[in-house]
Amino acid sequence: MEAMNQVGNGGVGGNAPGLQCDGLPVPIVALLRNQRPWWQTVSPAESFVIRIALIVMRLAATWLQLRLGTWHCKSSIAPSQSSVDATYTKIAPRYRRAHTLATNGRDVWWRREVAWEVAPFLKRWFKEHPMSRPVLLDLCTGTGLSLAEMLRIFAFEDVSVKAIGIDINEAMLQEARSSLDAYRRDWCLDSQRTVEFARADASDLLGRRTRLADFRYFEPRSVACITSICGIGGLTEPIESFRQQLEVLEDEGMVVVVDMHRPIPDLASTWPPFHRRTWPAFEQAAWEEVTVPHVLQKLWAWRDPTLMLHAIPFVTIFGDSSGHHYGFRLLSRQIRTEPWWFGLPVMSMAKIVAQKTRITLDEARLRKETLRRIQGALREDG
Ligand SMILES: C[S@@+](CC[C@H](N)C(=O)[O-])C[C@H]1O[C@@H](n2cnc3c(N)ncnc32)[C@H](O)[C@@H]1O
Repeated sequence: MEAMNQVGNGGVGGNAPGLQCDGLPVPIVALLRNQRPWWQTVSPAESFVIRIALIVMRLAATWLQLRLGTWHCKSSIAPSQSSVDATYTKIAPRYRRAHTLATNGRDVWWRREVAWEVAPFLKRWFKEHPMSRPVLLDLCTGTGLSLAEMLRIFAFEDVSVKAIGIDINEAMLQEARSSLDAYRRDWCLDSQRTVEFARADASDLLGRRTRLADFRYFEPRSVACITSICGIGGLTEPIESFRQQLEVLEDEGMVVVVDMHRPIPDLASTWPPFHRRTWPAFEQAAWEEVTVPHVLQKLWAWRDPTLMLHAIPFVTIFGDSSGHHYGFRLLSRQIRTEPWWFGLPVMSMAKIVAQKTRITLDEARLRKETLRRIQGALREDG
């Protein structure tokens, strides 16, 4: 959060008068305005209860780390590609179970929610371009769980699609491929829906940096829709990835990104026995003292993706061949805290839906300036 302080103020404290938040995304401003440590916002008795709850949650995270064999992994604020790779190679066979446990099974609903978002878009796209099925690219697809849930909805909604799941980790892809026959049998019709998995780097989709034989690369304007679910927090170059996503997307193509998000106090959730009041201090404490250091960094070799999510609408490219600037039009943004085990409100999530669109030179300049400020904060975050 130190970094968040810097985003909008160029050195002015979070609550100080003159906070320069103009042009920054609303959620970042909301977080900037709430810079107090959580224990200063509650009574000593409440602080005691929260600390006990944190100990229990830390024990749960430690148990999961022991089960997955990632106990010895060092926590890192900005994971390197090699540490991300080593973690996923290790947990690939147990990934599905671990992810279900760590998210209380809510992950299935995040995946389906993305599919409900994407299905009408793909249907409309196919109607307007009937010569070829729209390509859906699922980034950081892991063991393919998201595509499995998406295909289930696409079959239900009779959507035509060519789905491609990409991941950089061979062990995760092996798991995905071993389920491929089942996916095809259950949800695919060759003439309407196909699915494949390929090795690719989400930050080098066009192959500008490498040209490896076992990697898949994509042509500019070849993809109608890009999804990523719990995928961006491990990217070492997230902004470059968004730029390349803009390039491989067709004009008016869509992106849907779902990931963890730092809780916003004004949007705090309730807990089942006490539905009449929220407890923002508890959500903040759980995020800062358990979710980020123990779950994101240590268990998944991940980092806090909050700032990256809000950078998406400010990423721009210049198309040499077309001579136009492009960016994302934000279609919707959702931030909410989901119930974890025992209904505890400690899983704060965000979903960003955006569409590739042509922008003017002035708009591109403005967006670049805001992106520069967010990138500064990202660097501060590590
Ligand atoms: C937390 S898992 C998420 C998997 C899947 N999206 C899901 O929801 O189950 C993150 C995945 O991102 C992959 N990954 C990390 N860096 C990547 C990169 N640069 N390009 C492609 N995949 C990457 C990891 O190998 C891992 O499989």
